[in-house]
Amino acid sequence: MKRTLWIILFVFIAMQFIQTEKINKQTPKELEIKAPEPIMTMLKNACYDCHSNEVKWPWYSNIAPLSWMIDRHVSHGISALNFSEWENYTEEEKKKELKEIFRTAYASMPLADYITFHEEADLTREQRTMIRDWTGVKK
Ligand code: HEC
Repeated sequence: MKRTLWIILFVFIAMQFIQTEKINKQTPKELEIKAPEPIMTMLKNACYDCHSNEVKWPWYSNIAPLSWMIDRHVSHGISALNFSEWENYTEEEKKKELKEIFRTAYASMPLADYITFHEEADLTREQRTMIRDWTGVKK
């Protein structure tokens, strides 16, 4: 029993040596999405940690294996949609992303396990409706 605990401790410590990269790419402010208040505040509070170059890394993002999970969400999120580089998208891509935002705002976004740790990302139905209306997508 004691030996098992030592092994677990050893593995846990060893895992800490596999660190993730936590850099926010520097991009010109002009490329950022422009949305009226309060949409912008909602995007910043609920989406920017996975869809921008302004990711705020919480302290627990330094602890493996949580750090690996967070890193995966952030890198997948950014490659799917990046609000900091919105103006690099073509008109067609923007239209597609707005449609995706419209679709996910009532469903999968922000990710449920993110909301557990970030109260400010727990958007109400009304706030989600505001985001959907802002996309301009016809119901
Ligand atoms: C904890 C991280 C996280 C947060 C917070 C988050 N997302 Fe995501 N989002 C992801 C990941 C990861 C993907 C890629 C999912 C996939 O491909 O399955 C994604 C995909 C998307 C997509 C699909 C993009 C595409 O073209 O495929 C949209 C749209 C989206 N998110 C919108 C939002 C919006 C709007 C918010 C805020 C209300 C938000 N997300 C918050 C992680 C996050």
